[in-house]
Amino acid sequence: MSVVIDGKKTSEEIKGEIAQRVAEIKNEGGKIPHLAAILVGSDGASQTYVGAKVKSCEQVGFESTLVRLDENVTEIELLKVVEDINQNPEIDGLIVQLPLPKHISVEKVTDKIKPEKDVDGFTPSNVGRMALGWPAYVAATPYGIVELLKRYKIETAGKHCVVIGRSHIVGSPMSILMARNEYPGNCTVTLTHSRTKNLSEIAKTADILIVALGKPEFVTSEMVKEGAVVIDVGIHRVDDASKKSGFKLIGDVKYEEVAQKASAITPVPGGVGPMTIASLLYNTLLAAEKKIY
Ligand code: GUN
Repeated sequence: MSVVIDGKKTSEEIKGEIAQRVAEIKNEGGKIPHLAAILVGSDGASQTYVGAKVKSCEQVGFESTLVRLDENVTEIELLKVVEDINQNPEIDGLIVQLPLPKHISVEKVTDKIKPEKDVDGFTPSNVGRMALGWPAYVAATPYGIVELLKRYKIETAGKHCVVIGRSHIVGSPMSILMARNEYPGNCTVTLTHSRTKNLSEIAKTADILIVALGKPEFVTSEMVKEGAVVIDVGIHRVDDASKKSGFKLIGDVKYEEVAQKASAITPVPGGVGPMTIASLLYNTLLAAEKKIY
């Protein structure tokens, strides 16, 4: 049987460590970390995510500010809000929840965020610094996966890591981090995507398989090598009449059958998901303590 990599438990441990540091900062009379989040429009999933981020700030003793803007806000107005937060010395970290409405350029808004406050790690400055192995805010999902690999002492040096999905937020940075000359890294990395030929055959050669393509239960046991470590980044809501809520959450991996083959695997829910918020909080702590810039 495989080891279940418990992201929920690990994220609670990390939040406990952060809360402890906040208590020390209070005692020392230092700056309490303060995260600002901008939410544009009323997308259901985005509201849930931002709500969870703000609640987690409270849990660890951070200050938080949620700026809600109407769906019809202009790009210029949004850029002005970002600039005001850039200039506000009280606020250490700023995130703009994605997706944004179609009339607003994600590139322009991301590029407006001061890299020193970019705790999502989305700005060109932080992506570039991460790729160079310089001190950087690393995007929350890849950072959370790195932390899980560390805390579960997963061996990575010389292993073949196959990443499925090349998004800017997960697949692409993950491939860079796994190839870096430090632990967890030193992997031989194959980055695969929707145009990859023989994907199943390539996946089957992976010692570490990181799945972030956004297709429910895409990875089946035939695509996984015996003893592989499987990290599932996907999260999908599907109808389930047997649940009180009427739905259940599933990942990009067919969990039950893949767990039979894997040496270690992240479940959905309770795997990578909870680590994302823990990473964001950790980045915000780094920002308040000026540890990156
Ligand atoms: N939308 C989906 N994931 C993320 C994330 O990590 N940060 C932000 N700002 N928006 C998202």
